[in-house]
Amino acid sequence: MTGAAVTGAPVGEAVDPGEPIFRLRGVEYSYAGRQTALEGVDLEIWAGERVALLGANGSGKSTLLKLLDGILAPTAGSLRALGLDIAAVAAGLEAFTFHRQVGLVFQDPDIQLFSATVLDDVAFGPLQLGLAQDEVAERCEEALAAMEIGHLADRAPFELSGGEKKRAAIASVLSLRPEVVLLDEPTASLDPRTKWLLVDLIQRMGDAGRSLVIATHELDIVPLIADRVVVLNEHGRVVADGAPGSILSDVDLLLSVNLIHEHLHRHGATRHSHPHEAADDVHSHVANLT
Ligand SMILES: Nc1ncnc2c1ncn2[C@@H]1O[C@H](COP(=O)(O)OP(=O)(O)OP(=O)(O)O)[C@@H](O)[C@H]1O
Ligand SMILES: [Mg+2]
Repeated sequence: MTGAAVTGAPVGEAVDPGEPIFRLRGVEYSYAGRQTALEGVDLEIWAGERVALLGANGSGKSTLLKLLDGILAPTAGSLRALGLDIAAVAAGLEAFTFHRQVGLVFQDPDIQLFSATVLDDVAFGPLQLGLAQDEVAERCEEALAAMEIGHLADRAPFELSGGEKKRAAIASVLSLRPEVVLLDEPTASLDPRTKWLLVDLIQRMGDAGRSLVIATHELDIVPLIADRVVVLNEHGRVVADGAPGSILSDVDLLLSVNLIHEHLHRHGATRHSHPHEAADDVHSHVANLT
């Protein structure tokens, strides 16, 4: 078994190549009609694109991914996904067809893992698709191998560490071999080796033509996993959409949406500040603090 099988060619003849796979027009989402998470989102995502979704905590990244996955429906505006009205998918119409093609790795793996064993969770999707036993077994073995968790197959998900749960949750989506893969902070809580294993896997999925939308706070991996970056501000509005190089070099933009911060330093008697990535708090200046 190889990663090539996990990342194999997309199935998506269903999608008209002249149409974006996702088309959002004036999309708004409010939780319980009170907490507005997204406002006025106009966005088109095309087949084969690798899109990184950036934004500070609470900027609506997870909400947007849940809308793209048809778990939520917009409270205003329209969202068409793979030629379907997402409101209909969220209401259960064509949901089975839709979820053959679109898979979401949740930010919180505890939501994704609900079976007695990791293997049962990874097998759940393929079994729901009605695949033959040997096909289910092959997909499970492949997905577990891709995340290097074959040794955890018989463990109960609640017994796993945070990073192990994350890997199991990702495997449970890989086994579906979705054409469109939505990943919500996939590298959060992964150790460095596993993080780069995942970056490599994401790259191979992209190379194989999969469409990817990935919410992340880890700016260092963005140029590797994405060819387009969409930035949300704290009001759930899209404030930038462009190539990783131009977005990541726009310090004023990154500061304005709290993706980097002015960090105050003291070097002996000298104090100064300059921008840092959120994940870059530990750096050489710390040793200079007096
Ligand atoms: N179940 C919920 N009920 C009410 N409000 C919610 C719920 N989930 C999220 N929100 C609110 O919606 C807004 C967007 O949340 P969301 O989880 O989409 O942000 P995020 O960008 O994914 O943040 P993070 O980086 O912390 O994961 C926030 O203001 C949040 O408090
Ligand atoms: Mg989130």
